[in-house]
Amino acid sequence: MDLTHRPRRLRQDRVRGLVSETSLEPSDLIAPVFVDATTDERIPIESMPGHERVPVDESVDRVREVLETGVEAVMIFGIPESKDPEGTRAWAEDGVVQAATRRITAETDAYVITDVCLCEYTDHGHCGPLEEELSGDDERGTPCDHDRDATMTVDNDATLESLDRIAVSHAEAGADMIAPSGMMDGMVAAIRGALDRDGYEHVPIMSYAAKYESAFYGPFRDAADGAPSFGDRRHYQMDPANAREALREVRLDAEQGADVLMIKPALPYLDIVAEIRREFDHPVAAYNVSGEYAMLHAAAEKGWLELDEVALESLVSIKRAGADLILTYFAEEVANRLSADR
Ligand code: PBG
Repeated sequence: MDLTHRPRRLRQDRVRGLVSETSLEPSDLIAPVFVDATTDERIPIESMPGHERVPVDESVDRVREVLETGVEAVMIFGIPESKDPEGTRAWAEDGVVQAATRRITAETDAYVITDVCLCEYTDHGHCGPLEEELSGDDERGTPCDHDRDATMTVDNDATLESLDRIAVSHAEAGADMIAPSGMMDGMVAAIRGALDRDGYEHVPIMSYAAKYESAFYGPFRDAADGAPSFGDRRHYQMDPANAREALREVRLDAEQGADVLMIKPALPYLDIVAEIRREFDHPVAAYNVSGEYAMLHAAAEKGWLELDEVALESLVSIKRAGADLILTYFAEEVANRLSADR
Protein backbone atom coordinates (compact mmCIF):
# COMPACT_ATOMS: atom_id res chain seq x y z
CA MET A 1 0.00 0.00 0.00
CA ASP A 2 1.56 3.29 -1.07
CA LEU A 3 0.37 6.01 1.31
CA THR A 4 2.99 8.67 0.59
CA HIS A 5 0.11 11.10 0.32
CA ARG A 6 -1.91 11.36 3.49
CA PRO A 7 -3.99 14.56 3.34
CA ARG A 8 -5.15 13.86 6.87
CA ARG A 9 -1.72 14.99 8.17
CA LEU A 10 -2.85 18.58 7.69
CA ARG A 11 -6.24 18.07 9.28
CA GLN A 12 -4.89 17.69 12.78
CA ASP A 13 -6.16 20.35 15.15
CA ARG A 14 -2.93 22.26 15.68
CA VAL A 15 -2.22 22.75 11.98
CA ARG A 16 -5.71 23.25 10.55
CA GLY A 17 -5.59 27.00 11.16
CA LEU A 18 -2.19 27.35 9.49
CA VAL A 19 -3.35 25.71 6.28
CA SER A 20 -6.83 27.25 6.22
CA GLU A 21 -7.41 28.89 2.83
CA THR A 22 -10.32 31.14 3.68
CA SER A 23 -10.90 33.53 6.53
CA LEU A 24 -14.05 35.37 7.44
CA GLU A 25 -13.98 38.63 9.41
CA PRO A 26 -16.78 40.83 10.75
CA SER A 27 -15.34 43.55 8.50
CA ASP A 28 -16.23 41.47 5.41
CA LEU A 29 -19.92 41.72 6.24
CA ILE A 30 -22.65 44.23 5.43
CA ALA A 31 -25.87 44.16 7.47
CA PRO A 32 -29.13 45.13 5.74
CA VAL A 33 -31.30 47.53 7.78
CA PHE A 34 -34.96 48.28 7.01
CA VAL A 35 -36.22 51.76 7.86
CA ASP A 36 -39.98 52.22 7.71
CA ALA A 37 -41.66 55.62 7.46
CA THR A 38 -45.10 54.15 8.13
CA THR A 39 -44.52 53.13 11.74
CA ASP A 40 -43.33 54.59 14.99
CA GLU A 41 -42.43 51.32 16.56
CA ARG A 42 -40.24 48.42 15.58
CA ILE A 43 -42.09 45.73 13.63
CA PRO A 44 -40.64 42.20 13.53
CA ILE A 45 -40.36 40.72 10.02
CA GLU A 46 -42.03 37.35 10.34
CA SER A 47 -40.29 35.59 7.47
CA MET A 48 -36.87 36.87 8.57
CA PRO A 49 -36.58 36.00 12.26
CA GLY A 50 -34.45 38.47 14.21
CA HIS A 51 -35.02 41.29 11.71
CA GLU A 52 -37.31 44.27 12.07
CA ARG A 53 -38.51 47.32 10.24
CA VAL A 54 -37.53 50.28 12.39
CA PRO A 55 -38.90 53.83 12.36
CA VAL A 56 -36.55 56.64 11.31
CA ASP A 57 -36.29 57.64 14.97
CA GLU A 58 -34.76 54.28 15.82
CA SER A 59 -32.46 53.98 12.84
CA VAL A 60 -29.43 55.20 14.78
CA ASP A 61 -30.07 52.74 17.63
CA ARG A 62 -30.52 49.94 15.14
CA VAL A 63 -27.21 50.74 13.46
CA ARG A 64 -25.46 50.97 16.84
CA GLU A 65 -26.63 47.40 17.56
CA VAL A 66 -24.98 46.31 14.32
CA LEU A 67 -21.73 48.14 15.10
CA GLU A 68 -21.50 46.51 18.53
CA THR A 69 -21.08 43.13 16.86
CA GLY A 70 -18.01 44.31 14.94
CA VAL A 71 -19.80 44.72 11.61
CA GLU A 72 -18.84 48.11 10.20
CA ALA A 73 -21.16 48.58 7.23
CA VAL A 74 -24.91 48.69 6.73
CA MET A 75 -27.15 48.67 3.66
CA ILE A 76 -30.20 50.89 4.13
CA PHE A 77 -33.56 49.94 2.59
CA GLY A 78 -36.54 52.25 2.94
CA ILE A 79 -40.29 51.78 3.15
CA PRO A 80 -41.85 55.14 2.22
CA GLU A 81 -44.94 56.73 3.76
CA SER A 82 -46.68 56.72 0.36
CA LYS A 83 -46.31 55.29 -3.13
CA ASP A 84 -47.22 56.48 -6.62
CA PRO A 85 -46.69 55.24 -10.21
CA GLU A 86 -43.37 57.11 -10.56
CA GLY A 87 -41.99 56.38 -7.09
CA THR A 88 -41.37 60.06 -6.37
CA ARG A 89 -40.77 59.51 -2.63
CA ALA A 90 -37.56 57.72 -3.59
CA TRP A 91 -35.72 60.99 -4.27
CA ALA A 92 -37.48 63.26 -1.75
CA GLU A 93 -35.07 65.27 0.37
CA ASP A 94 -37.09 64.24 3.43
CA GLY A 95 -37.56 60.66 2.16
CA VAL A 96 -37.11 57.74 4.51
CA VAL A 97 -33.62 56.66 3.37
CA GLN A 98 -32.43 60.26 3.17
CA ALA A 99 -33.66 61.06 6.69
CA ALA A 100 -32.21 57.88 8.18
CA THR A 101 -28.89 58.30 6.36
CA ARG A 102 -28.55 61.87 7.62
CA ARG A 103 -28.95 60.73 11.21
CA ILE A 104 -26.86 57.59 10.98
CA THR A 105 -23.92 59.34 9.35
CA ALA A 106 -24.12 62.24 11.82
CA GLU A 107 -24.24 60.04 14.91
CA THR A 108 -22.27 56.87 14.15
CA ASP A 109 -19.13 55.74 12.31
CA ALA A 110 -21.05 53.16 10.29
CA TYR A 111 -20.18 52.92 6.61
CA VAL A 112 -23.57 53.62 5.04
CA ILE A 113 -24.50 52.04 1.73
CA THR A 114 -27.90 52.86 0.26
CA ASP A 115 -30.02 50.69 -2.01
CA VAL A 116 -31.01 52.69 -5.07
CA CYS A 117 -34.15 51.25 -6.62
CA LEU A 118 -37.78 52.17 -7.17
CA CYS A 119 -39.70 48.99 -6.35
CA GLU A 120 -40.43 49.97 -2.73
CA TYR A 121 -41.66 53.38 -3.93
CA THR A 122 -43.88 52.63 -6.93
CA ASP A 123 -47.49 51.65 -6.26
CA HIS A 124 -47.20 48.82 -8.83
CA GLY A 125 -44.02 47.49 -7.19
CA HIS A 126 -41.87 47.44 -10.33
CA CYS A 127 -38.37 48.89 -10.38
CA GLY A 128 -39.27 51.98 -12.42
CA PRO A 129 -42.08 53.81 -14.22
CA LEU A 130 -44.01 51.65 -16.71
CA GLU A 131 -44.49 51.87 -20.43
CA GLU A 132 -46.34 49.83 -22.99
CA GLU A 133 -44.12 46.95 -24.05
CA LEU A 134 -42.64 47.83 -27.45
CA SER A 135 -41.83 44.35 -28.69
CA GLY A 136 -45.43 43.09 -28.35
CA ASP A 137 -47.35 41.92 -31.41
CA ASP A 138 -49.08 45.00 -32.73
CA GLU A 139 -51.80 42.99 -34.45
CA ARG A 140 -53.11 42.23 -30.97
CA GLY A 141 -54.81 45.62 -31.16
CA THR A 142 -55.89 47.51 -28.08
CA PRO A 143 -55.72 45.13 -25.16
CA CYS A 144 -58.81 44.96 -23.00
CA ASP A 145 -58.36 46.35 -19.55
CA HIS A 146 -57.70 43.22 -17.54
CA ASP A 147 -54.73 42.03 -19.61
CA ARG A 148 -53.37 45.54 -20.03
CA ASP A 149 -50.88 44.89 -17.22
CA ALA A 150 -49.42 41.99 -19.13
CA THR A 151 -48.26 44.37 -21.85
CA MET A 152 -46.56 46.81 -19.49
CA THR A 153 -42.86 46.84 -18.69
CA VAL A 154 -40.39 49.16 -16.96
CA ASP A 155 -39.38 52.15 -19.07
CA ASN A 156 -35.59 51.81 -18.96
CA ASP A 157 -34.53 55.30 -19.99
CA ALA A 158 -37.13 57.13 -17.92
CA THR A 159 -35.99 55.05 -14.93
CA LEU A 160 -32.40 56.20 -15.44
CA GLU A 161 -33.48 59.80 -14.84
CA SER A 162 -35.11 58.79 -11.56
CA LEU A 163 -32.08 56.77 -10.50
CA ASP A 164 -29.88 59.87 -11.06
CA ARG A 165 -32.03 61.84 -8.69
CA ILE A 166 -32.19 59.12 -6.07
CA ALA A 167 -28.43 58.58 -6.09
CA VAL A 168 -27.70 62.29 -5.74
CA SER A 169 -30.26 62.67 -2.94
CA HIS A 170 -28.64 59.79 -1.06
CA ALA A 171 -25.15 61.23 -1.52
CA GLU A 172 -26.42 64.61 -0.38
CA ALA A 173 -27.77 62.93 2.77
CA GLY A 174 -24.28 61.54 3.44
CA ALA A 175 -24.36 58.03 1.96
CA ASP A 176 -20.85 56.58 1.76
CA MET A 177 -21.62 54.24 -1.14
CA ILE A 178 -24.47 53.92 -3.62
CA ALA A 179 -25.85 50.51 -4.61
CA PRO A 180 -28.19 50.49 -7.62
CA SER A 181 -30.23 47.27 -7.72
CA GLY A 182 -32.74 47.80 -10.52
CA MET A 183 -30.91 46.06 -13.40
CA MET A 184 -31.63 48.89 -15.84
CA ASP A 185 -29.36 49.12 -18.87
CA GLY A 186 -26.91 51.98 -18.45
CA MET A 187 -27.71 52.56 -14.77
CA VAL A 188 -24.11 52.71 -13.57
CA ALA A 189 -23.07 55.23 -16.24
CA ALA A 190 -26.12 57.37 -15.50
CA ILE A 191 -25.51 57.38 -11.75
CA ARG A 192 -21.76 57.92 -12.09
CA GLY A 193 -22.45 60.90 -14.35
CA ALA A 194 -24.97 62.41 -11.96
CA LEU A 195 -22.77 61.94 -8.89
CA ASP A 196 -19.74 63.46 -10.63
CA ARG A 197 -21.74 66.38 -11.98
CA ASP A 198 -22.95 67.25 -8.49
CA GLY A 199 -19.60 66.97 -6.73
CA TYR A 200 -19.83 63.41 -5.38
CA GLU A 201 -17.03 61.94 -7.46
CA HIS A 202 -15.57 60.38 -4.26
CA VAL A 203 -18.71 58.27 -3.65
CA PRO A 204 -18.23 54.71 -4.96
CA ILE A 205 -20.87 52.63 -6.72
CA MET A 206 -21.49 49.01 -5.81
CA SER A 207 -23.55 47.70 -8.67
CA TYR A 208 -25.94 44.78 -8.34
CA ALA A 209 -24.23 43.78 -11.57
CA ALA A 210 -25.57 40.26 -12.02
CA LYS A 211 -28.92 40.14 -10.31
CA TYR A 212 -31.08 37.16 -11.13
CA GLU A 213 -34.85 36.94 -11.32
CA SER A 214 -34.95 34.75 -8.24
CA ALA A 215 -37.66 33.21 -6.10
CA PHE A 216 -35.27 33.55 -3.15
CA TYR A 217 -36.27 37.23 -2.74
CA GLY A 218 -39.70 36.31 -1.35
CA PRO A 219 -39.18 37.23 2.31
CA PHE A 220 -37.50 40.52 1.37
CA ARG A 221 -40.49 41.55 -0.68
CA ASP A 222 -42.65 41.10 2.43
CA ALA A 223 -40.10 42.96 4.52
CA ALA A 224 -39.75 45.91 2.18
CA ASP A 225 -43.25 45.77 0.79
CA GLY A 226 -41.87 45.68 -2.74
CA ALA A 227 -43.56 42.75 -4.45
CA PRO A 228 -44.74 43.57 -7.98
CA SER A 229 -48.54 43.94 -8.07
CA PHE A 230 -48.64 42.10 -11.41
CA GLY A 231 -46.21 40.04 -13.43
CA ASP A 232 -42.63 39.46 -12.38
CA ARG A 233 -39.20 40.99 -12.94
CA ARG A 234 -37.97 38.79 -15.77
CA HIS A 235 -37.91 41.70 -18.21
CA TYR A 236 -35.07 43.28 -16.28
CA GLN A 237 -33.53 40.75 -13.89
CA MET A 238 -31.47 37.89 -15.30
CA ASP A 239 -32.61 34.42 -16.25
CA PRO A 240 -31.27 31.87 -13.69
CA ALA A 241 -30.29 29.67 -16.64
CA ASN A 242 -27.64 32.11 -17.88
CA ALA A 243 -23.99 32.30 -16.86
CA ARG A 244 -22.28 33.78 -19.93
CA GLU A 245 -24.79 36.59 -19.87
CA ALA A 246 -23.63 37.44 -16.34
CA LEU A 247 -20.14 38.08 -17.68
CA ARG A 248 -21.55 40.46 -20.25
CA GLU A 249 -23.74 42.24 -17.69
CA VAL A 250 -20.86 42.60 -15.25
CA ARG A 251 -18.48 43.80 -17.97
CA LEU A 252 -20.90 46.57 -18.92
CA ASP A 253 -21.11 47.75 -15.32
CA ALA A 254 -17.33 47.63 -14.94
CA GLU A 255 -16.92 49.68 -18.13
CA GLN A 256 -19.45 52.20 -16.85
CA GLY A 257 -17.39 52.74 -13.70
CA ALA A 258 -18.78 50.36 -11.08
CA ASP A 259 -16.32 50.18 -8.17
CA VAL A 260 -17.66 46.97 -6.61
CA LEU A 261 -19.40 44.19 -8.55
CA MET A 262 -22.20 42.34 -6.85
CA ILE A 263 -23.72 38.94 -7.61
CA LYS A 264 -27.17 38.17 -6.22
CA PRO A 265 -28.36 35.76 -4.83
CA ALA A 266 -25.22 34.12 -3.42
CA LEU A 267 -25.46 30.40 -2.60
CA PRO A 268 -27.36 29.20 -5.71
CA TYR A 269 -25.00 31.31 -7.88
CA LEU A 270 -21.53 30.52 -6.49
CA ASP A 271 -20.41 29.45 -9.97
CA ILE A 272 -21.07 33.03 -11.09
CA VAL A 273 -19.22 34.46 -8.08
CA ALA A 274 -16.20 32.28 -8.89
CA GLU A 275 -16.28 33.21 -12.56
CA ILE A 276 -16.54 36.96 -11.90
CA ARG A 277 -13.68 36.65 -9.37
CA ARG A 278 -11.50 35.08 -12.09
CA GLU A 279 -12.40 37.53 -14.84
CA PHE A 280 -12.27 40.85 -12.97
CA ASP A 281 -9.90 42.49 -10.52
CA HIS A 282 -12.61 44.59 -8.85
CA PRO A 283 -13.82 43.76 -5.36
CA VAL A 284 -16.62 41.22 -5.68
CA ALA A 285 -19.67 41.28 -3.40
CA ALA A 286 -22.30 38.59 -2.98
CA TYR A 287 -25.78 39.06 -1.56
CA ASN A 288 -26.84 36.17 0.68
CA VAL A 289 -30.51 37.02 0.19
CA SER A 290 -33.62 36.80 2.33
CA GLY A 291 -34.68 33.35 1.08
CA GLU A 292 -31.24 31.92 1.84
CA TYR A 293 -31.65 33.24 5.37
CA ALA A 294 -35.27 32.20 5.83
CA MET A 295 -34.76 28.60 4.71
CA LEU A 296 -31.98 27.96 7.20
CA HIS A 297 -34.05 29.52 9.98
CA ALA A 298 -37.08 27.41 9.06
CA ALA A 299 -35.06 24.19 9.09
CA ALA A 300 -33.35 25.14 12.36
CA GLU A 301 -36.70 25.86 13.94
CA LYS A 302 -37.75 22.32 13.14
CA GLY A 303 -34.55 21.07 14.72
CA TRP A 304 -33.26 19.80 11.38
CA LEU A 305 -30.17 22.01 11.11
CA GLU A 306 -27.84 23.71 13.57
CA LEU A 307 -28.35 27.39 12.72
CA ASP A 308 -24.98 28.79 13.87
CA GLU A 309 -23.11 26.11 11.98
CA VAL A 310 -24.97 26.37 8.68
CA ALA A 311 -24.86 30.18 8.77
CA LEU A 312 -21.10 30.21 9.25
CA GLU A 313 -20.55 27.49 6.64
CA SER A 314 -22.68 29.42 4.14
CA LEU A 315 -20.67 32.61 4.56
CA VAL A 316 -17.31 30.83 4.46
CA SER A 317 -18.42 29.12 1.24
CA ILE A 318 -19.40 32.44 -0.33
CA LYS A 319 -15.95 33.81 0.51
CA ARG A 320 -14.20 30.67 -0.73
CA ALA A 321 -16.03 31.04 -4.05
CA GLY A 322 -14.41 34.46 -4.40
CA ALA A 323 -16.52 37.14 -2.71
CA ASP A 324 -14.61 39.81 -0.82
CA LEU A 325 -17.68 41.22 0.87
CA ILE A 326 -20.99 39.65 1.80
CA LEU A 327 -24.36 41.25 2.36
CA THR A 328 -26.15 39.01 4.78
CA TYR A 329 -28.94 38.95 7.34
CA PHE A 330 -26.62 36.70 9.38
CA ALA A 331 -24.07 39.53 9.72
CA GLU A 332 -24.65 40.26 13.39
CA GLU A 333 -24.94 36.65 14.59
CA VAL A 334 -21.90 35.50 12.66
CA ALA A 335 -19.81 38.52 13.69
CA ASN A 336 -20.65 37.82 17.34
CA ARG A 337 -19.67 34.21 16.90
CA LEU A 338 -16.38 35.14 15.19
CA SER A 339 -15.47 37.51 18.02
CA ALA A 340 -16.39 34.90 20.65
CA ASP A 341 -14.23 32.24 18.94
CA ARG A 342 -11.21 34.50 19.04
C1 PBG B 1 -34.80 45.58 -5.09
C2 PBG B 1 -34.17 44.62 -4.17
C3 PBG B 1 -34.61 43.33 -3.88
C4 PBG B 1 -33.70 42.79 -2.98
C5 PBG B 1 -32.76 43.77 -2.70
N1 PBG B 1 -33.06 44.88 -3.47
C6 PBG B 1 -35.83 42.61 -4.28
C7 PBG B 1 -36.18 42.36 -5.67
O1 PBG B 1 -35.42 42.53 -6.62
O2 PBG B 1 -37.32 41.97 -5.83
C8 PBG B 1 -33.78 41.41 -2.41
C9 PBG B 1 -32.93 41.15 -1.25
C10 PBG B 1 -33.24 39.90 -0.54
O3 PBG B 1 -34.03 39.04 -0.95
O4 PBG B 1 -32.64 39.74 0.53
N2 PBG B 1 -34.71 46.88 -4.66
